[in-house]
Amino acid sequence: MIHIDGLWAGYGGLDILRGVDLKVEQGTINCIVGPNGAGKSTVLKTISGILAPRAGSIAVDGVQLGGEPPAAILRAGVVQVPQRHGLFTKLTVRENVLMGAYIIRRRGRKQMDGRYEELAEIFPLLAERPHVLAGSLSGGQRRMVEFARAMMLDPKIVLLDEPTLGLDPISLAIIRDSILVMNGAGTTILMVEQNVRFGLSLAHHATVMSAGSVALAGSAQDIADNPHLMDVFFGAASPRTEPAA
Ligand SMILES: Nc1ncnc2c1ncn2[C@@H]1O[C@H](COP(=O)(O)OP(=O)(O)O)[C@@H](O)[C@H]1O
Ligand SMILES: [Mg+2]
Repeated sequence: MIHIDGLWAGYGGLDILRGVDLKVEQGTINCIVGPNGAGKSTVLKTISGILAPRAGSIAVDGVQLGGEPPAAILRAGVVQVPQRHGLFTKLTVRENVLMGAYIIRRRGRKQMDGRYEELAEIFPLLAERPHVLAGSLSGGQRRMVEFARAMMLDPKIVLLDEPTLGLDPISLAIIRDSILVMNGAGTTILMVEQNVRFGLSLAHHATVMSAGSVALAGSAQDIADNPHLMDVFFGAASPRTEPAA
C-alpha cells in the first residue's frame, strides 16, 4: 500500500529525514513511535505533500506520489488528521463532518447524507448527537468527529499525528475504538503516537524512529517486547538512573 524508500526531507538548510524506509500493508495499522524531534511528524507531512521529499520515493498502490501537491495526494486517497485540533467549534457535529466532503469536490447532497449515515453506524456520536456544537464535546469526542470528517472522503489511508495528545483516559478509550472501527471498515492507518503503550497495543506493525531514520521495525508485539525499545528513547549510553547496588 504505502512504500517509502530512502526518504530524505527537511526544513531550510537542515535535513531531518535521512533515508527513511517504511512499508504499510493494506488494511493494517502501523504506528510510528520515537523520541521527540525524531522526525515522526515530518514523515507524515512528507507523505501528505505539505513538505517535498529531497530524495527517495513515496508510492501508494504503486503510484509515485512523492513531490505531488497536497490536493493530488488527497485525491489519491491519503487523508491526514493533523496534530492540532481543527474542528469548527461553533458548527455542529454534523456540519463539521459534512465539511470533509467539501475539501476536494462538491458532492451531491444525497451522496453526502448517505455517507454520513454510513459513518454514523461506526461512530455512534454522529447518530446520537448530530446537532450538538463541536465546541461542547470532550477531547475524545472531538477526535471522533475529526476522524469521521476524514472518513467522509472514503480514504484508502488515514494518517494520524498523535491522536491521544493531551487527552484523559476516557478519551483514550474513545480514540482506541474509533481507530479500530476505521481500520475495521478497511481503512489502512499510519499513526504517530507518543503514548507508546497505547500505540503498540493497537497497531499491527510498529516503526521506531530515531534522529531521522528507522531504528527498529516489526510487528507491534515484537517491538513492544524488544529490549532495545527504551534504548532508542533514552539513548543506549545514558547513565544509570538507579544507584548501583
Ligand atoms: N517547520 C519546521 N521548521 C524547521 N524545523 C522544523 C519544523 N518542523 C519540525 N522541525 C524540526 O524537525 C525535527 C523533527 O521534527 P518532527 O518531525 O516534528 O519530530 P517528532 O514529530 O518526531 O517529534 C525537530 O528537530 C524539529 O525542531
Ligand atoms: Mg510530532
